[in-house]
Amino acid sequence: MNAGVRAVTRAAIYNGVQVKAIYRGYRGLISGEVVPFQTQNVSNIIGHGGTIIKTARCQEFHTPEGRAQAYETMQKEGIDALVVLGGDGTITGAREFSAEYNVPIVGVPCTIDNDLYGTDHTIGYDTALNTITEAVDKIRDTASSHERLFFVEVMGRDAGFLALNGGIASGTEYAIIPEVDTQDDQLQQIIQSGFRKSKNSSIVLVAEGAIEGGAMALAERMKKEYPQYNAQVTILGHIQRGGSPSAFDRIVASRMGLAAVEALLEGQRNVMIGIRDNDIVYVPFDKAIKIKKQINRQQLDTIRILSI
Ligand code: F6P
Repeated sequence: MNAGVRAVTRAAIYNGVQVKAIYRGYRGLISGEVVPFQTQNVSNIIGHGGTIIKTARCQEFHTPEGRAQAYETMQKEGIDALVVLGGDGTITGAREFSAEYNVPIVGVPCTIDNDLYGTDHTIGYDTALNTITEAVDKIRDTASSHERLFFVEVMGRDAGFLALNGGIASGTEYAIIPEVDTQDDQLQQIIQSGFRKSKNSSIVLVAEGAIEGGAMALAERMKKEYPQYNAQVTILGHIQRGGSPSAFDRIVASRMGLAAVEALLEGQRNVMIGIRDNDIVYVPFDKAIKIKKQINRQQLDTIRILSI
């Protein structure tokens, strides 16, 4: 996200537009945490994870009173357009706010879940995928040496992109994702795809939202139903949301941040910047949040076929 903050700041200044950074997202817009930014404010941040302007959940912005307060801050600070960086919640808030106050807003998709419709990439997804791949490579050393079955839980409350593509990238035997119903015989399938022929270890990626209780619950079931397999669990958790961003994420964030400023200068509003087939596109807020981005189920076959 820092690469995105840098790009928006510098692109605006390049175009003669003043920049004010709003700390802690909508919460800061309500409380007035606004800081004028020059090019130096975003120096040397492109390689750092997280966001220097912080982030926060904000229940108040869901209320008309909260949004009224936010609008007041904008008027007081002389802010006449917003670039918002975030995921589904951020874009939903932007849509509501712009409808009420007719404020020009352009969104930049930032979520490791990659679950926003209309864009091939969201900022953070590639870095998280690389983190998962690196972690699974390390876990595999124990899995294969000790001949164990590992359930590795990755993020994705509602979306399986990380589990699916993380599974392909790290050569796991199976991926359990929210988009595919958890079948009763899934454990059986896992056993079949993992422990057979030459295989004496197995790694299964589990998206946190795919199954109630996540990887822990799955491992408990496994222990009861197939006690002969030594099922272990690793939950990757928030390491997936941090660390130095990949080159790909930095490029995506830089292109999208610049595009967001250009879009506002062109008179665009209520659109999220996307990248499709390597081109910048404008995705209406409505579409970005209301249409479910489909997972490519054939990729489950990729995992299945390549892990024989
Ligand atoms: O929205 C992205 C996401 O990474 C989800 O997959 C995950 O459940 C959630 O964020 C975790 O966020 P937090 O730690 O803030 O609850």
